[in-house]
Amino acid sequence: MFVTDLKCNHRKNPLGMDDIPYFSWKMESEQQNVMQTACRIQVYKEKRCLWDSEKTVTEKSTFIPYEGDALESCSRYRWIVTIWDNYGNQASEEAFFETAFLSHMDWKAKWVECRQKHKKKTPAVLFRKDFQVKKELISARAYATCHGIYRLSMNGERADAREFAPEYTVYEKCLYYQTYDVTPLLKPGKNTIGMYVGDGWYFSMMSKKKSRNFSDHYGILFQIELHYEDGTKETIISDENVKCKTGPVQYSDLYYGEIYDAREQVSNWDTPYCDDRTWKNVKIREFPLDNLKAQIMDPVRIYREFSVKKVIKTPKGENVLDFGQNFAGRVRINIHLPKDSVLEMEHSETLGTDGNYFNNIQGINQKDVFISDGNEISYEPLFTFHGFRYVRITGLQEIRAEDFTGIALTSEKADLGTFECSDAEINRLVENTLWSQKSNMFSIPTDCPQREKAGWTGDIGIYAKTALKNEDVTAFLTGWLNNLKLEQKEDGQIPPVVPFSDFYSMTSKLQPILMGGSPKTISSSGWADCCIDIPYDMYCMTENTDILRRQYPVMKKWLSYVEVQAKTKKGRESGVEKEQEQYLWNSGFHYGEWLIPSCCEENGSMSKENFASAREGKNYVAPIYFYTSSKKMAEIAKILGEKQDEEYYKSLSEKILEACQKSLITKEDRLRYERQGAYVLALKAGIIPTEKKQTFADRLAELIEKNGNKLDTGFLGTPYLLDALSENGYGNFAYTVLKQPERPGWMFEVRNGATTIWESWNCYGKDGKIQLMSMNHYAFGSVCDWIYRNISGIDFLEPGYRKIRISPKPYGDLTAANRTYQCEYGEIQSIWKIEDGVFTLEVKIPCNTTAVVELPDGRTESVGSGTYQFTSRRRKENE
Ligand code: BGC
Repeated sequence: MFVTDLKCNHRKNPLGMDDIPYFSWKMESEQQNVMQTACRIQVYKEKRCLWDSEKTVTEKSTFIPYEGDALESCSRYRWIVTIWDNYGNQASEEAFFETAFLSHMDWKAKWVECRQKHKKKTPAVLFRKDFQVKKELISARAYATCHGIYRLSMNGERADAREFAPEYTVYEKCLYYQTYDVTPLLKPGKNTIGMYVGDGWYFSMMSKKKSRNFSDHYGILFQIELHYEDGTKETIISDENVKCKTGPVQYSDLYYGEIYDAREQVSNWDTPYCDDRTWKNVKIREFPLDNLKAQIMDPVRIYREFSVKKVIKTPKGENVLDFGQNFAGRVRINIHLPKDSVLEMEHSETLGTDGNYFNNIQGINQKDVFISDGNEISYEPLFTFHGFRYVRITGLQEIRAEDFTGIALTSEKADLGTFECSDAEINRLVENTLWSQKSNMFSIPTDCPQREKAGWTGDIGIYAKTALKNEDVTAFLTGWLNNLKLEQKEDGQIPPVVPFSDFYSMTSKLQPILMGGSPKTISSSGWADCCIDIPYDMYCMTENTDILRRQYPVMKKWLSYVEVQAKTKKGRESGVEKEQEQYLWNSGFHYGEWLIPSCCEENGSMSKENFASAREGKNYVAPIYFYTSSKKMAEIAKILGEKQDEEYYKSLSEKILEACQKSLITKEDRLRYERQGAYVLALKAGIIPTEKKQTFADRLAELIEKNGNKLDTGFLGTPYLLDALSENGYGNFAYTVLKQPERPGWMFEVRNGATTIWESWNCYGKDGKIQLMSMNHYAFGSVCDWIYRNISGIDFLEPGYRKIRISPKPYGDLTAANRTYQCEYGEIQSIWKIEDGVFTLEVKIPCNTTAVVELPDGRTESVGSGTYQFTSRRRKENE
């Protein structure tokens, strides 16, 4: 028996933390039915023990909070976990975590800024400082951040491969600093720290917030802690000795791209060989330091590199590179051009129907420009990224595919799952979803990587569960939810985009006018409710109580806001008595289901019909979400031991349920809003009384059938559409809808060559025209959650998969499926195939969990950890 995968705050050996640590590990064994019976955690700083939990009888192996003596800043702690199993085996393993600054008083560094004011097109700025390492070092750490985004180097070498530090946050309240182990980069004598700073989110028009007193200058802050072998320490800080100068990046924008003039390169700028006497002095600024926080999650890094699939000569004669995959990232070129020649790279997700280069993102030309100094160079834009598959190249006589490399970037997270089945199109759909996830987990969860790059709350709200099944997004989402907490308004409202910016405050004022409500209401149902949905999903998937505790005040405040809205503002079409109406949230501004296909068929999201459906949404989407959120809150309060709250939310949700039923269900046993999505949401939320569920599910199936077996649900309905069918006896029909080859349908995209998930099924319009919509939105990829739970049949019966259900469904013509999933306890696997009418299933259940296996012939088996095989006759009826 072994202890493996030790994690502290869900990261492996994290450097530079300032949160209270919590610990998790996994257990591996060759034996079956293995359970942890006890554990012991010891935490040491060198030889001093700060915490010894003693041997504790418990099965718990995840999210265990540190309960030892106070930790100190900038220190390394070893932690040792020892576990015992039910066979009397014992195993131990060791890992470490390192603290950064536990108080902002630890910062000795000063903010320094370049004197040039940031204007619309400002060149990026090089900052440098020389310093002495006086003795032999044991270790050295650099802590740094900036206003803008930066790359840090020591003596000419990048300190690590991270990109886009310091990440996108609500800067005036929380600005992350990064921790670097720079020990191997330093040497006795003169050393140099370099920081190259570009615009990033801090200066971008789309993400800027003037009211926050952002600085108008690029600025940096760093502190290097040197630990010498003789036990002494020394601190090097950013101060008046820092010098600055502009370099080759003439302009950098996260949306529009970068201009790199190689003639302006400054050789050796970040090494001791640079003479900086002609460089400019910096200005010291007294910014408060209490917004500084150690970065919670892993950074953005290169995820994959790929070569050009095809070089296309378009009918117009343009040279276009096709990377064969839509992704977020940029292009690296190896190039040798005559001095002063200009090379341009423009990025797009698609070609036009005429085969020419076509920019499908209105108003944004994602363009990088390179100007040569006559030397051979490998250039990759520093401070921008794009969403693209195709790149139009101008300024080159001859295109050699091998000179270009596609660089895919994403916030680093461990992959958790694999999926493959006998249907190649479903496999491609799953792969497309993974690509959309990678492309949109970029410092924050975004809607799309090419147009808005914005933290739309609703998108991640519906997608979080699928995300958690694909990658370990715990630390990533914890970071973003902290932003959400900081953005919550006094009255409890949550802005639709987090972090919120001037651009989105402006559009938020317009949206209520177009979609109902007053400009004071900026929080739509389904979008703002993500403040409850995401922590709840994180808990269900990983038994993460830490996140529930952190976010509990936000959830409470949000729900109180909705309660006040329901009580004080009346909608028009409630159909209920006054007494009940106070429990219906049917006023204000809502996005409704958003992008119901029949409402945005012709003109996309900006159509009158789409806005009308958003307005209609307040009558069924908002009340249903109010019910679901209050029900979840009762459960969350229970988990956290908040007894009074639990009672309160329970009784509140009962009253909302009654009001919803009265308002939404007609005497004829229909819903007042005859939309597929209304049926889906009502069935999933439990609005429909048990005895009437079948009638309503039949009606939903009928609506879909009448629509040619095609879905007509929007953002909020689609993730639950197939569940609403398969949970009510329409399993095979759900599969038919999944396999629908025409628009709107998932396979329509796959058959049209999609390599990511589209924002709208209409990206290729009816007449073959291309709509100006994003082709890389993960929202509709949330169907993978259904695929994993149904086709492979892996689901949890108890939070965190402590108890697992494996109930594979061999729908339609499927003959095989194989899924692995790393849950908190280890790998779950379900492999099944049908040969000569016989269904065989192999399952793998991790230690410290148990599982119930349900076979297609109706048999049920209970198993403990280990690997098991089953055979079954295949059930033929409509499952
Ligand atoms: C975004 C969406 C978002 C929506 C809300 C769009 O522009 O791309 O994904 O949720 O607006 O209206």
